[in-house]
Amino acid sequence: MTKPQTLLSALACALLGYAASVAAAEPYREYVWDATSNPPGVEGDKGHTDTYQYWKDRSKLPAMNGADEWKLNWKFRDRPGNDQLHGGDLAQERGEELYKKLNAGNAFAACMGAPDGNLKGLRLKYPRYDEDMKKVVGMEARIEYCAGKLGSKLVNGSYDNSAVSIYIATFSNGMPMAIDVSQGPLKDSFERGRKVFNLKAGRMNLACASCHVQMVGKNLRGQTPTTHYGDLTHWPTWRGKDELQSLHVRFTECDKNSGVQPLQIGSQSYTDIEVYLSALSNGYPMQAPSMRD
Ligand code: HEC
Repeated sequence: MTKPQTLLSALACALLGYAASVAAAEPYREYVWDATSNPPGVEGDKGHTDTYQYWKDRSKLPAMNGADEWKLNWKFRDRPGNDQLHGGDLAQERGEELYKKLNAGNAFAACMGAPDGNLKGLRLKYPRYDEDMKKVVGMEARIEYCAGKLGSKLVNGSYDNSAVSIYIATFSNGMPMAIDVSQGPLKDSFERGRKVFNLKAGRMNLACASCHVQMVGKNLRGQTPTTHYGDLTHWPTWRGKDELQSLHVRFTECDKNSGVQPLQIGSQSYTDIEVYLSALSNGYPMQAPSMRD
């Protein structure tokens, strides 16, 4: 028979060992890892939703209003497919007005990365590692920073910030997204973004990928989650109801809808997701302004 004393000390040892292992372990996390093997850009989507074929040849999509329309990420709402004027056009005008006011002496353009004032292709330089801000940033974060330097307040996520973003993006229309995530801080950010995108969280234990990879093209309470490929070329967007919405604001909305605590606009994790999704949009043409539901 085991002496009670031996039993007690064995129990104490076991408890101590357990406590030590808990202290050393990473917090428990679950991931949806399906998408990890896919490379960024058009190539990667071949093994996923293979939507790029529809961009190149829209006649391949039999009925634009049918069940397959999600395959274009609602791109048929963009020009030239859709000439309807919408809130995004008004935002573009507002953006131009603000931009011109800020850009006296070309200071704003220079700060944004266009020293000669030529905005063509400027949108494609974002997201990037920013030497002044000492971190990876999206274009809207840099707009806030540069406006601030010139004494104006254009808060990231606000209507006016998004308006300036749209105005600048229009100069890159039709040009393919091409960010390099093969090295340096953008590679690190891409990898972090991929992880966060696949991380399950919140009271329903959902990751972005639970919907945008696993439920893609399926009916989710009347909505259809679109592919995460080719989805970053049209931001900020006019949401048909009444809102000019930046990408990070959209992230807060998806977080709220899926029972996850939203993060700060411009936070590192949201920026990392932006980098990840931007790389997945490599090869897809830019379009601003845009309109979505
Ligand atoms: C519960 C399912 C669900 C989760 C989880 C979810 N989303 Fe969404 N998301 C949707 C639906 C539905 C839409 C609207 C349909 C569409 O455009 O894809 C949407 C829209 C979007 C859009 C806008 C697409 C567009 O062009 O208008 C982006 C970007 C996006 N989600 C990113 C994310 C990110 C990043 C996460 C994680 C932080 C996330 N979503 C989590 C369901 C989800």
